[in-house]
Amino acid sequence: MPAKIFILGGTGQTGRLIARHLLERSDAIITIASRRLERAEEVAADLGHDRPDRVKAAAVDAADAASLRAALEGQTLLVVAAPTTAHVATVTRAALDAGVDYLDVQISAKKFATLKSLAPEIEAKGLCFITEAGFHPGLPAALVRFAAAHLDSIETATTACYLSIGRDIPFSDAVEELVEIFRSYNAQVFKNGRWTPPGVYQMRKIAFGGDIGTRSCYSMFFEELRPLPDRFPSLRETGFFMAGTHWFTDAVVFPLAFLLLKIVPKATRTIGRLLWWGMTRFQKPPYRTELIVQASGTHAGQKTQFEAAVAHRDAYELTAIPVAAAILQYLEGLRRPGLHMMGHLADPRRLFTDMKRMGVKVRTTVE
Ligand SMILES: NC(=O)c1ccc[n+]([C@@H]2O[C@H](COP(=O)([O-])OP(=O)(O)OC[C@H]3O[C@@H](n4cnc5c(N)ncnc54)[C@H](OP(=O)(O)O)[C@@H]3O)[C@@H](O)[C@H]2O)c1
Repeated sequence: MPAKIFILGGTGQTGRLIARHLLERSDAIITIASRRLERAEEVAADLGHDRPDRVKAAAVDAADAASLRAALEGQTLLVVAAPTTAHVATVTRAALDAGVDYLDVQISAKKFATLKSLAPEIEAKGLCFITEAGFHPGLPAALVRFAAAHLDSIETATTACYLSIGRDIPFSDAVEELVEIFRSYNAQVFKNGRWTPPGVYQMRKIAFGGDIGTRSCYSMFFEELRPLPDRFPSLRETGFFMAGTHWFTDAVVFPLAFLLLKIVPKATRTIGRLLWWGMTRFQKPPYRTELIVQASGTHAGQKTQFEAAVAHRDAYELTAIPVAAAILQYLEGLRRPGLHMMGHLADPRRLFTDMKRMGVKVRTTVE
């Protein structure tokens, strides 16, 4: 029997693409869900024009526990691709009570803490919950594991992201989640065998190569980085760095957003609009999103440098494709009871192979 996948936020930029890739690569039956039934039906009709029996539509509000619980009846997997971290307790409870597996692409410390508190119940119910899916979060740990798979012993693994999305991207409510990241910004990296303090930025020049060149980058912590030193005891250094794209955004817009968060902490929407304006207005080519890992270690007794990069012109594609690729692994037997992060659960070699098939540029270099 084909799996039934319910995509909350299925009409959004990310949700729609996850649905499209899953329709193309699996036999799952997909439900496109959002608060507006008409919009969900429109998207479902578009995605299902040549396979109408595989795409359905549903109206659900993440804030409404009863409607969500009822809608999840009989589903296999709930994919949360909506900026609904404010309702994380309601959404996860609905999945637990309906006995449905769960995957989210959201960026939120509060969401992660809620899921962690539910981990024993998730495991006891034999459900598989996958969190921190997407490209960031999602790919940093997968890239480090990919590098480790090419080395006998891994000593350093720096991950970094270049993001220049262009000027014509429609505003997304998901920017409010970005504001929450700024509010509780964690800049930790693992350096000389220990974690640096959360409030202390690390700056680094990183050579992306090609037309991106070398960029000044600032550190940013993702939960998926935390288990890496335990997983790879030889690892002395790891972390994630975000490349700056324009001096005005880096030197004026971002500091102003931090300041406004202190002075008017409730102005989330306005600060979100400011961040979006800064991130889109001043962007310069090359327009694409690229994530890299630069690792060092040993292989066959030799000092070895390993580098891998994944890139796509469309940042939403680079969010949706790893999610769809991880779901393919889940559908084919990777499902394990408990709470997992995508970057730690998915087999990285298979993940990057499938991502390439779905249109992501993947490059690896070993020296
Ligand atoms: N991990 C990563 O790498 C990564 C990268 C980028 C984005 N993200 C995350 O991806 C998520 C989606 O972002 P996006 O830009 O694709 O969003 P988007 O285009 O703004 O779409 C949002 C979707 O959620 C639905 N929605 C909003 N509130 C809802 C509610 N209360 N109940 C049910 N549905 C609701 C919307 O439909 P209605 O308005 O009709 O309800 C729409 O379908 C966000 O959480 C964002 O932070 C993750």
